[in-house]
Amino acid sequence: MKLNKKFLVIPIVLGMSLALVNCKNDTKKEDTPVVEEMAEASIIKSNFGMFQDSIPVEKYALVNANGMEVDVITYGGIITSLKAPSQDSTFQDVVLGFDSLEEYVEGSPYFGAIIGRYGNRIAKGEFKLDGETYTLPVNDGDNSLHGGTAGFDKVVWNAEEVKDGDNVGLKLTYLSPDGDMGYPGNLETTVTYTLQADNTLMVKYEATTDKPTVVNLTQHTYFNLSGNFDNTILDTEVMINADQYLPVDAGLIPTGELKSVAGTTFDFNKPKKIGAEINAEDDQLKKGLGYDHCWILNGTGGEMKLAATALDPESGRFMEIMSTEPAIQFYTGNFLDGTLTQKDGEGTYAYRSGFCLETQHYPDSPNQADFPSTVLKPGEKYETTTSFKFSVQD
Ligand code: BGC
Repeated sequence: MKLNKKFLVIPIVLGMSLALVNCKNDTKKEDTPVVEEMAEASIIKSNFGMFQDSIPVEKYALVNANGMEVDVITYGGIITSLKAPSQDSTFQDVVLGFDSLEEYVEGSPYFGAIIGRYGNRIAKGEFKLDGETYTLPVNDGDNSLHGGTAGFDKVVWNAEEVKDGDNVGLKLTYLSPDGDMGYPGNLETTVTYTLQADNTLMVKYEATTDKPTVVNLTQHTYFNLSGNFDNTILDTEVMINADQYLPVDAGLIPTGELKSVAGTTFDFNKPKKIGAEINAEDDQLKKGLGYDHCWILNGTGGEMKLAATALDPESGRFMEIMSTEPAIQFYTGNFLDGTLTQKDGEGTYAYRSGFCLETQHYPDSPNQADFPSTVLKPGEKYETTTSFKFSVQD
């Protein structure tokens, strides 16, 4: 990466995680006091505890040359911390999470986790494929949510560091055995997180199967771009690039209708404060206890397209999400209730103190023939990509 600034001061925020290299002053005259220092992107591995007293869990800190840092643990592929740039060139943690493995294991509302095999709900924990009925564990009223009682958020993934020039990444793999949580087929799954030099976190999902099955993988990070977890997210300005959304029934299963957002509280085509209409008299908002719905992204097919943006107006922190996926679940932390302890060990995560923007296929697709298919067959490759780019707006 080339930095044009003649003199770059590197914030010492990351302690030992930054290495100083490339003092490229060989072309300068002896008396020109110009030192160009660049931090090298790095990956720092540390221990994050022991799962079920026997499986070590590691934490990998991915740090780019600017000092942006994304921490990932091998349990659930969870992003435990994401330090995004601020106006003053420092970096602040903008994702909800915990300090210890125990808290993640004991009762996390999917903070930061990889979701699989199926993001969001499958009605009544049941679906038919090729004439066969498959039964899944029910863990959300009558329905199966986020892959069942022990989905991909609750397993320990294998990890491999990936370094490619200025990009630092982590390749996580997991073999979900045939019948795991009721789903057919041995599913070889890979999720690769890559932190790029331009402050983009790329998330690439891949899977193959040896029997026909259904797959819908996503990432469940709760963002609070203010960096202060005592704040709600109601002032965050969100844009969702979607003209339609999926209304839900009382159990949050899509009714099957694709409804226009025009003239409704679900219209986020222009940036709007999350809190602007969240408490409006609206049957759908009542069902979701706020926003907890799937928006159908504008654009065709599997190309990388703009999905959503979010801006914290106070700090100027800005996130842009692009995805190959056809839809995005926007969830406004309506089930957070102040019972979970923040990372600093002091405050708690209050109602609506984090929001999720989960790129995915539609919920309950295996039971809704008109929705884009989530079926994966042997010989095919499941491949989707989502990126989260962080910057600062003045
Ligand atoms: C769902 C919510 C659910 C939450 C779990 C979201 O993806 O849409 O209904 O409560 O995940 O934390």
